[in-house]
Amino acid sequence: MDLADDLSTRPYDVYRELRTTSPVHRVAGTDGRPAWLVTRYDDVRAALADPRLSLDKAHAREGNYRGLALPPALDANLLNMDPPDHTRLRRLVGRAFTPRRVEQLRTPIRATADRLLDALGTHGTTDLVTAYAAPLPITVICELLGIPESRRRDFRSWSNVLVAPDPSRPQVAKEAFAGMLGFLAELLVHKRSSPADDLLSDLIAVRDADDDRLTEDELMSLAFLILFAGYENTVQLIGNAVLALLENPDQMALLRQDPARIADAVEEFARFEGPALLAIRRFPTQDLEIGGTVIPAGDTVLLSLSAANRDPNRFPDPDRVDLGRDATGHLALGHGIHYCLGAPLARAETEIALTALLDRFENLEFAGADPQWRPSMRARGLTALPVHYSRATPAP
Ligand code: HEM
Repeated sequence: MDLADDLSTRPYDVYRELRTTSPVHRVAGTDGRPAWLVTRYDDVRAALADPRLSLDKAHAREGNYRGLALPPALDANLLNMDPPDHTRLRRLVGRAFTPRRVEQLRTPIRATADRLLDALGTHGTTDLVTAYAAPLPITVICELLGIPESRRRDFRSWSNVLVAPDPSRPQVAKEAFAGMLGFLAELLVHKRSSPADDLLSDLIAVRDADDDRLTEDELMSLAFLILFAGYENTVQLIGNAVLALLENPDQMALLRQDPARIADAVEEFARFEGPALLAIRRFPTQDLEIGGTVIPAGDTVLLSLSAANRDPNRFPDPDRVDLGRDATGHLALGHGIHYCLGAPLARAETEIALTALLDRFENLEFAGADPQWRPSMRARGLTALPVHYSRATPAP
């Protein structure tokens, strides 16, 4: 196996070795083109906040790994931008995506979680990714964007294709893109004429002091980014957190005894098994030294959030899940000006998903042989999470 395969199938082993022997290492990106992989906590954290590392593809040199290619209408998004464009757009979005909006979603999130759990009955065996971790965030995103009930089925099926496209069926992905673009355009027209109490309507209405507002492409890209950045990551964090609990019954017992620990627990799950292995690719605008290696301007830099989160110099005994540790400072949601915009929502969803699950089922057990991880150097997530569950201890 080569390094690219190892990074996709056993990332933490590779990170452990690289942090010690080659903390800034030449690797091949998902398209086989070269990039630099940075794995030490201090280097990754500093680089995330370094203005000399651009997210704008205009600074990329030909021949290097460039990350995901999106159609132009979806490219005007925060994760392709530097200041001052990024600052302007993020300020506008911040006006609509408020803490109040996240708080408003707590009750519908819990209701959705309970409804999904109701469907499981009192006991049985199921794949928790399909039955629970996946449908919960997609419903939340539909609520957030104000997508009507009647269109959620289409939205879900396009989302499923888009977040995990099958490379052997490019036509399917193309159709899903077209479907999603058409749908978002239609939705924007509708929200413009009949605004409601949802994020999309607020984004359309938002202006700043200079009467600046979001362009059509920016609105469209943003709606797409919220789906893209928010959906897959949240599904995976919920799945990864449940698996961590199943594999560490002492920690599950601790959480059951003291449910108020849930917020700290979510931070530890994000540190231990965060879904975004890598930050968005970055391009140095000038020759730049990271961890003793000089990286030429225009090369591609991949910052490993997960390698940083398992750096023993920052988090002692990092491969252990420990709900008692202080996991703050983890980089699972990024750091600096691109820090995850949806972080409060991601935290709320994961907290509620875990709390509702533990409240409902007294017994939860992993029902597979070994956890099945999706092979990816970008994302850490389970293909399935088979569990046995029941409400109360069965009579002897
Ligand atoms: C567990 C779930 C999530 C994880 C692990 C996650 C992770 C991240 C990370 C690491 C970044 C920074 C990328 C970088 O600097 O390279 C980011 C940015 C972002 N996230 Fe999240 N995210 C999650 C959920 C969400 C949700 C639910 C939303 C929206 C509803 C969202 C919206 C965004 C947006 C818009 C950005 C770009 C911010 C900017 O560039 O200024 N994310 N996320």
